[in-house]
Amino acid sequence: DAPAFPALSFWPALILAGFLGIHITGSFVRSQKNHTLIFTKENTIRNCSCSADIRDCDYCLANLMCNCKTVLPSTMEKTTYNSHLTIWFTDTSVLEMLLNFTRVWDLKLSFCGTAPLPTEYLAIWGLRKLRVKKVKGRFPEQSVTIYSSSSNEKENSLAVHNKDRQMLVYISFLDTSLFNGYSLLKSYSVENVSSITEHFPSLLYSDVFSTSDNKSYVVTFIY
Ligand SMILES: *[C@@H]1O[C@H](CO)[C@@H](O)[C@H](O)[C@H]1NC(C)=O
Ligand SMILES: *[C@@H]1O[C@H](CO)[C@@H](O)[C@H](O)[C@H]1NC(C)=O
Ligand SMILES: *[C@@H]1O[C@H](CO)[C@@H](O)[C@H](O)[C@H]1NC(C)=O
Ligand SMILES: *[C@@H]1O[C@H](CO)[C@@H](O)[C@H](O)[C@H]1NC(C)=O
Repeated sequence: DAPAFPALSFWPALILAGFLGIHITGSFVRSQKNHTLIFTKENTIRNCSCSADIRDCDYCLANLMCNCKTVLPSTMEKTTYNSHLTIWFTDTSVLEMLLNFTRVWDLKLSFCGTAPLPTEYLAIWGLRKLRVKKVKGRFPEQSVTIYSSSSNEKENSLAVHNKDRQMLVYISFLDTSLFNGYSLLKSYSVENVSSITEHFPSLLYSDVFSTSDNKSYVVTFIY
């Protein structure tokens, strides 16, 4: 039969379409997954759960589209964020409260202010991927990947071991002045650091890092 024969030539296209369909569905489901957006506006901190991507610094849209609640600075605790976190901020003091010494592995920071930021260092545990949007979107988004998880680790696991069975601890120091102007986002990592205080005495965080633990630090500077 003649009609059946041409139909065969469509098979590869159908298979491809099927593959794309699965692929598109997959990314659709992923983008529908709720993620956390925290933003600050006029001394108010709002913590939102969003199912859609909201354009940077669009506070009205975020209030409309996401499920937000106000956070009192006095009740804020250092948290672990196991999924993607976005922060919109206008000054370093609130960013410091939200981020300094928290654990977050997938982070996006959008600077929504205009006043230049001072050079300060924020410590972030376990950061794998950072995306940065500078000065109200006047520059294209930039990103750095500090490390990728290997397939045998759980996606959100923060504990990784090296071949000597030491616990690998990732810590990043983010220079807040990087948001000020156009420059390429850069990162520099030092691996196999047994004592942060001995390696980097000028970091002045000696109270935070114990020296005698059986850990191997990977220290990353983002600037
Ligand atoms: C924001 O909300 C998430 C849960 O949706 C919570 O895990 C996190 O601790 C909150 N962060 C702050 C700063 O309140
Ligand atoms: C982050 O916390 C450390 C330790 O508490 C502190 O010394 C440092 O000043 C903080 N960084 C910023 C930018 O506030
Ligand atoms: C660190 O701890 C692991 C197991 O907990 C042990 O096998 C390893 O020998 C220790 N390494 C050092 C340098 O103490
Ligand atoms: C890590 O540091 C230890 C002690 O400082 C050293 O013995 C070891 O060879 C280093 N490992 C790597 C991979 O550099």
